[in-house]
Amino acid sequence: MSQSLQYKEKDIEARLKGKDFLTINDLSTDELLYLLKVADELKHLQKQGIPHEELKGKVLGMIFEKSSTRTRVSFEVAMLQLGGHALFLSSKDIQLGRGETIEDTANVLAGYLDGVMIRTFGHETIERFAQASSIPVINGLTDLHHPAQILADLLTILEHKGYLNGLKAAYFGDGNNVAHSLLEGAAKVGMHFSIACPEGYEPDETILANARETAKVTGAIIEVTTDPEVAVNGADVLITDVWASMGQEEEQKEREGVFEPYQVNEELCIKANEKYIFMHCLPAHRGEEVTAGVIDGPHSVVYQEAENRLHAQKALLKILLKN
Ligand code: CP
Ligand code: NVA
Repeated sequence: MSQSLQYKEKDIEARLKGKDFLTINDLSTDELLYLLKVADELKHLQKQGIPHEELKGKVLGMIFEKSSTRTRVSFEVAMLQLGGHALFLSSKDIQLGRGETIEDTANVLAGYLDGVMIRTFGHETIERFAQASSIPVINGLTDLHHPAQILADLLTILEHKGYLNGLKAAYFGDGNNVAHSLLEGAAKVGMHFSIACPEGYEPDETILANARETAKVTGAIIEVTTDPEVAVNGADVLITDVWASMGQEEEQKEREGVFEPYQVNEELCIKANEKYIFMHCLPAHRGEEVTAGVIDGPHSVVYQEAENRLHAQKALLKILLKN
C-alpha cells in the first residue's frame, strides 16, 4: 500500500473515532468505502480463525424498543469477536420504558459504556439520545433509517459484483427506513438506484432531495417510479422489504392490497440483468413482497447479506469505539 493511501486511511479513522452513526449520510464516500474495506479484512480474519480483539474490555449497550433477530445477535457477536462485551437492554426492562428521560438515560449510560446501539421508533429519539451522549451512538433501526443494514448490503453487492459505482439496483415496495438508507448509500457510491413504489408510499422528500444532491457529485442516478417494470429493467441487484414495517401492523391488510403489483416474482425478475442478485434485509414474508421461488432461488443472497451484518458492524464498532 502506498504511503499516501496509508495516511488517508489514518485520517479517516481519526475522523470517525468517537462519532455517532445515525444515518448513511453521516459518512463521506471515502469513509463509507473504507468501512467496507475494513469489513472485508475482518471477515477474512474471522474466517481464517485469526484473533482480532481490537476492542478488548469495551462494552456496548444495546437498547431495543422493537423486536430483532439479526441486529441483536450480530452486534452482540461482533463485540464478542472484537474482544469486548455487549449488554442487551430491552426498553421494557430499563427505566426508559417507565418514563425516565432520554437525556438522563444517555448521560447515565455514558458513565458505564463505550458505545450504545439503539433500535427505536421516531428518528428524533435517537437524535436526542446522541445529542445528550458523550459516547458513540449507533442506529440499529428507526422508523426513518436503517444504516447498519445498508453497510452489510453494500458489502454483499461488492462481494458479488466486485464494484459498486455504475451498477443498477432496483428496490420495490415501501419507501421506508430500508429504502431511505439504500437511497443514501447508492447516492454515496455512485450507483443507479431505481425505486418503484405506489403513489403515497414514496420515500421521504428531504432524504430524496439530499440523495439527488449527493448524486450530482458521485454520478449516481436516483429514480423514483410507480412502475416496477421501469425499475427492474436491466437491474443488477433487486431488493425488497416488508410491506408493513414494525409499528404498522394494523395497516397490514390495507397494505397487502396497495403493494401487490410490487411483488418481486419470477415474471418480474426475467426483465433484470440475467446475473442479478436478489436481496432482502429479512425478516421476509414469502408470498407477499417476494415469492418463495425468488427468495429461495439461485439468485438470492439473503443469508450472506444477513451474515454480512456481523462483518460490517465489526468494522463500524472497531473504528468508532477504538481508543
Ligand atoms: N434486518 C434486520 O434488521 O433484522 P432484525 O429485525 O432481525 O434485526
Ligand atoms: N422495514 C422493516 C425492516 C426490518 C428489519 C421494519 O422497519 O420493520
